[in-house]
Order: sequence, then structure tokens, then C-alpha cells
Amino acid sequence: MRETLCTHLCCPDCRSDLDLDSHEQDDAEILSGTLSCPACDQRWPIVRGVPRFVPDDLPRDVRHTARNFGTSWRIWNDIDDDRYRRQLLEWLPLLSPDDVRNRTLLDGGCGKGRHLRVMAGFGARAVIGVDVSDAVDVAYANTRALPNVHVVQADLQHLPLRDDFDLAYSIGVIHHTPEPQRCFEAIAGHVRPGGTVACWVYGRENNGWIVWLVNPIRIGLTRYLPARALRVVAWVLAAVLHVVIAAVYRPAEAVGARLFYREYLLNLRRLGFAETHHIVYDHLAAPTAHYLRREEVQTWLDHAALSDTCVTWVHRNSWAAIGERRMAG
Ligand SMILES: C[S@@+](CC[C@H](N)C(=O)[O-])C[C@H]1O[C@@H](n2cnc3c(N)ncnc32)[C@H](O)[C@@H]1O
Ligand SMILES: [Zn+2]
Repeated sequence: MRETLCTHLCCPDCRSDLDLDSHEQDDAEILSGTLSCPACDQRWPIVRGVPRFVPDDLPRDVRHTARNFGTSWRIWNDIDDDRYRRQLLEWLPLLSPDDVRNRTLLDGGCGKGRHLRVMAGFGARAVIGVDVSDAVDVAYANTRALPNVHVVQADLQHLPLRDDFDLAYSIGVIHHTPEPQRCFEAIAGHVRPGGTVACWVYGRENNGWIVWLVNPIRIGLTRYLPARALRVVAWVLAAVLHVVIAAVYRPAEAVGARLFYREYLLNLRRLGFAETHHIVYDHLAAPTAHYLRREEVQTWLDHAALSDTCVTWVHRNSWAAIGERRMAG
């Protein structure tokens, strides 16, 4: 971490400023050290360049989520900025690079840090990526060269961050938390009045087949499988998917037939086999996954007291949402 991160940090419990004690540095990078709260006497370590705020008593399901996603991002740790820029704009279609320039951003659940790089490229003043899992080590390696990007390991429900972000966004994360609405509100609570909150989540609409067919298998079996075994299972399923897309969906597309899930599957083909393999793996490995109806997502925006809200379809199976925090008074 760099010392400049301290202006965005505070004690997750009493909101006081934190004291920084650096033990090992490499130029401006603090590789190890301690952050402490002078008011309530808590301490958090900085390990391998990342401040770590995950408490020992993390709920069991969140710990399971952290373990499985940490493994997933260590396997699929590569970076392809062009592809991830395109994907980010598909997931947050109501946001443009102009909304990011010179802004201070919070990425809730940053995974391997691919969107931190994209947002830095759009000219963000500072981007703070938070993730509960060891994926932060991958994110740190992928962003260390970018002086305006910071990575923090923490639970979104208990963030050691100030409440003055211009924009908080979260892509593919909130549906993996035990109480999605509470998680959304926690993220939104770190945005200043007039700032923006945006997210992308799985939809319930058109995903009945996942809820009825895939979920029982994920919940009863695959989320407990060792990564090596699950990787093989996901590879086989991804291969079957690509064969079906090539043999059925592409010819059907050529004659104008609109098959179920067409938009999503044709998009998978564009993303390529490695990305499909990763997506299938994550669907099977996730300990928690909620599939959300449009009205539920709209309720989050309303309960978080956001104005100018919009919820829109992405690939006809997921929702992108955006809103602005009302000005005080
Ligand atoms: C599907 S990944 C998406 C990562 C990233 N947003 C992206 O699109 O590349 C979900 C991420 O959310 C993180 N996550 C899940 N629950 C979390 C929580 N309670 N607090 C912080 N991060 C969480 C996981 O560790 C994982 O890296
Ligand atoms: Zn404190």
C-alpha cells in the first residue's frame, strides 16, 4: 500500500483516523507494517503490500465464499485490458468513462483487480478495490504499478473506508453475499451526497433453469469439491456449451431463429473458451448465489434513498442498476 491510501481509510468500528507504522518499504510501497486505531486500540496488519481488515470471526458462509473465490482468481489471474474494458461497459451500461474521470472510486469486491485497471485508465483520481478473499494478492500484483490504485482486504459489511466516495460500484459480487440488500446498502453508505452507486447482479428472470437445476447441484455438491476436481468438471461443461453454441446457436442465428438464452451464449462464444471455463467454474464453486428479480433490485435503490435510479437488462439474464445519493437536506 501507499501512504496516500490513509486519506481514504478509517477505523471500521469507531471511524477514527488510523495510525500507520511501516516496517518494510520498497520506494513508496509499504510492504509490511501495521495500521492501528488510537481511539479503540485495534490493530490490523499490512501483509505483502495489502492492509488486511478481515476479522477472525468472519461468518462461516462468507469465509467459504472468500476461500472459493480466492482460489478461482489465483487460477484465472491473467489481464486483458481491452476485453475487460468492453466487459465493464457492458456490465455498467449506465456509466461512461466521463463519469469516472477525476473521481474517487470504490470497487466493492474487486477480485483480481481487472476493473481497477480499467477505471484507472479512464482517468479516475483514485480507485480503492476491496475484496474479502486472498484475490487481493492477485489484484495487488496486477495494479501495483498504478499509483492511483489501492487494494484492501475487507468484508463489504464492515469497511474501513470513509463515506466520501464519488462513485461506488460492484460487479458480480452482491449476489454472492448472504444478505444482498444489506450489502448494497453498506456499499452505498460510503458514497457522498450527490455521488453515484452502480452494480451488476444475476437476474432471476430467464434463470429459472439455474435456480432449479444448477443450484441444487452447486449447494449439495460442487461448492465443496476441491478446486482441481471442479476445474475438470467445469472444463467438460464449458466444452459441451461451446459445442452446443457452435452446432445449434450459431446456425440458428444465421437463419434468424431466436433461441432461449441466445444473447448470453453467443456472448460466451465471443469471450472465448478460457473465460467460459472460468464462468462455469464460478457458477459451481460459489457457496452463496442469489438470483434477483428486477423489483428486488429496484427496492434496494429506493431503500438506500437514491434518486435518478435505473435498472436495466444485461444479456437478458442479469441486471445493471444505478442511482445517485440524495443531497443532504
Ligand atoms: C465473481 S467475483 C467478481 C470480482 C470482480 N468484481 C470482477 O468482476 O472481476 C466476486 C468477488 O466478490 C468477493 N466477495 C464476495 N463476498 C464479499 C464480501 N462480503 N466482501 C468483500 N468481497 C466479497 C469475492 O471474494 C470475489 O472476488
Ligand atoms: Zn476505532
